[in-house]
Amino acid sequence: MVKLVVDRITVVLGSEVVLEDVEFEVSGPGLVQVLGPNGAGKTTLFNTILGLIKPVKGRILVDGVDVTGNPRLVGKYVGYVQQFAGIGLEFPITALELVAGAYLLRQQKPPRLFKRKTALKRALEVLKKVGLEEHALNKPLAQLSGGQKQRAFIARALVFDPPILIMDEPFSAVDPHGRVELAKMVGELAKEKLVIISSHDPTLLIEYTSKVLLLNRRVIAFGDPDEVLREDTLRKVYGSAVLVYAAHVHISDSCPPRSKY
Ligand SMILES: Nc1ncnc2c1ncn2[C@@H]1O[C@H](COP(=O)(O)OP(=O)(O)O)[C@@H](O)[C@H]1O
Ligand SMILES: [Mg+2]
Repeated sequence: MVKLVVDRITVVLGSEVVLEDVEFEVSGPGLVQVLGPNGAGKTTLFNTILGLIKPVKGRILVDGVDVTGNPRLVGKYVGYVQQFAGIGLEFPITALELVAGAYLLRQQKPPRLFKRKTALKRALEVLKKVGLEEHALNKPLAQLSGGQKQRAFIARALVFDPPILIMDEPFSAVDPHGRVELAKMVGELAKEKLVIISSHDPTLLIEYTSKVLLLNRRVIAFGDPDEVLREDTLRKVYGSAVLVYAAHVHISDSCPPRSKY
């Protein structure tokens, strides 16, 4: 059981108020979806939770410990999978090296050389847990599918077994079949960890979701999926990009929020 409290944070970047009085509490294990259009502040919220951005007001607490603006301390509790956009994926390394390397880097004391065996063992363990196939372990990342790459990055975030895992739009670079398979794995992880995930497709993870945060600079709605994923609530931020089919609510990735035509 782990508890994350985002206590009325306000974040200013440049001269822009990007997050204002954002407040919510979540406990794990479970899955929290963070929804909001581009520019809503999802990545900024994650960077603030991670201590990489210091809010001008408010605090971040993990299990009652104030971790605001302290990435080293947050690192004990939180693993992070960054948004792919903008990150070069042509790393000339394999999935196994990526994960084992992350393990070695966090070792405080030299000599790191003797830790290599332990690092490889742990990397294999965690890559198995995220379901990366054996034949993919020693291939360069650039040769893996979007879903396989994403599994490698999730494994890297899990190498120290943090109670919280944050993922920023992990499905955006993954094809539709890969998305469903990845969603199942994420659902499994959410049985033992607090998984916080930003996405544009709430239906993909709906069966595993415990809470939904709808963000647009402020908290527009926060609660159980049934309460938040309603047409009227979603329209407040997504406008005409909300498509309703029978009883299901979808958010289209491809429609502009408001058509000019
Ligand atoms: N480094 C920065 N300096 C100034 N403004 C920024 C910076 N990063 C983000 N922003 C502003 O914050 C807003 C929210 O960005 P972001 O958190 O990336 O949103 P999201 O992840 O929901 O798309 C952006 O629209 C931009 O105006
Ligand atoms: Mg973002």
